[in-house]
Amino acid sequence: MELLRWSFAVGRAFRHMGCSRRNPFGEGLQSPSFLQPQRAYRSAICMEVNKPLVVQDVPSALLQPHEVRIRVRCCGVNFADILACQGLYQEKRSLPFTPGMEFSGDVMETGKAVTAIKEGDRVIGVTGTSAMAEEYIADPKLLWTIPKQVSYEDAAALPVSYGTAILALEHRAQTQPGETVLVTAAAGATGLAVVDVATHILKAKVIAAAGSDGKCNLALQKGAFHGVNYSGTNLREEVKKLTVNKGVDVVIDTVGGDIFKEALHSLAWEGRIVVVGFAGGTIPSIPANLLLLKNISALGLFWGRYREQDFPVFSSTLSSAVLYCQEGRIQPHIGAVFRLEEVNEAFAHVTQRKSTGKVVISIT
Ligand SMILES: NC(=O)c1ccc[n+]([C@@H]2O[C@H](COP(=O)([O-])OP(=O)(O)OC[C@H]3O[C@@H](n4cnc5c(N)ncnc54)[C@H](OP(=O)(O)O)[C@@H]3O)[C@@H](O)[C@H]2O)c1
Repeated sequence: MELLRWSFAVGRAFRHMGCSRRNPFGEGLQSPSFLQPQRAYRSAICMEVNKPLVVQDVPSALLQPHEVRIRVRCCGVNFADILACQGLYQEKRSLPFTPGMEFSGDVMETGKAVTAIKEGDRVIGVTGTSAMAEEYIADPKLLWTIPKQVSYEDAAALPVSYGTAILALEHRAQTQPGETVLVTAAAGATGLAVVDVATHILKAKVIAAAGSDGKCNLALQKGAFHGVNYSGTNLREEVKKLTVNKGVDVVIDTVGGDIFKEALHSLAWEGRIVVVGFAGGTIPSIPANLLLLKNISALGLFWGRYREQDFPVFSSTLSSAVLYCQEGRIQPHIGAVFRLEEVNEAFAHVTQRKSTGKVVISIT
């Protein structure tokens, strides 16, 4: 009864906004079967921006012929999920919505037209949103098989962070063996993935820059050859000393602001800097003369956008991440695991800079 009442309220809001029948919040309200008993699943929901998420039951949607229903086991927490719930993400969502861009789980049901995947398969998937729930309806094109030896937690940590790290290092910066890579927020989700891929796949030398000694030590344990705690020292001066005035070949920056500027100044001749994010909250501007003087390239990166613009590149980053993990060449770092009901605590853990590696929501 509680579910029906909630469905009425939220469904009304969605119809008012002209939402489609596929939206789980409105699903069933426009069908004659609405008043019949319906299966429900728990979902984290952003009802209002900048307010705590609520975890509530929503009705299961009907499966279309080309879709796959997933029982979600784990969902990775991304900075983008938090920004979306604060109304600050570049891609705006209409309320209410469920965050969650990556997941691992089991196939519960397949649509009539789906042949490549069957019930019971363990899969990893990406989505723009909606995965922080017990169930998710997926496009099979965006699912990858989880190798036997890879856990649900590790699998959920692969798509966004490793996809981004591989895209940044391999496709954008064209990192070569023996080159030096400086990564900021190096103990974060993207940061540690960059340390892992740069060191263990590309055989580059990584300088890990992070906001505490503990975070630097973690990055060193994961393969970095030097750590710089930028909360106590000048990043540019430290990199200068470490590289004997030469500078680094590649910078992967997820912080922005002054850290980005110091990292830009730390580049060597023909260096490449990849703009990945602005976790510090300030979007820096680039003095073009710096690019000119040292023949530097500044490269933007938006991993999710490749899904629409260049699917083969997008897909190859995830296939590589799964393969590297299967071969034991990379090892995602799961810094903390929260239950679905603890989603607000999980978000706070990241925004308060307490997290290391990937924060995962364990769902079922
Ligand atoms: N462009 C893309 O396709 C793409 C893909 C993935 C991620 N991103 C972006 O990359 C950034 C990092 O994402 P992530 O998921 O990997 O997060 P994360 O690194 O796990 O967490 C954020 C880290 O940023 C650092 N930070 C510096 N100033 C901060 C502040 N004021 N508030 C919070 N954190 C601050 C902290 O590390 P220290 O304490 O070490 O400074 C913190 O641990 C985000 O901006 C995200 O949107 C972009």
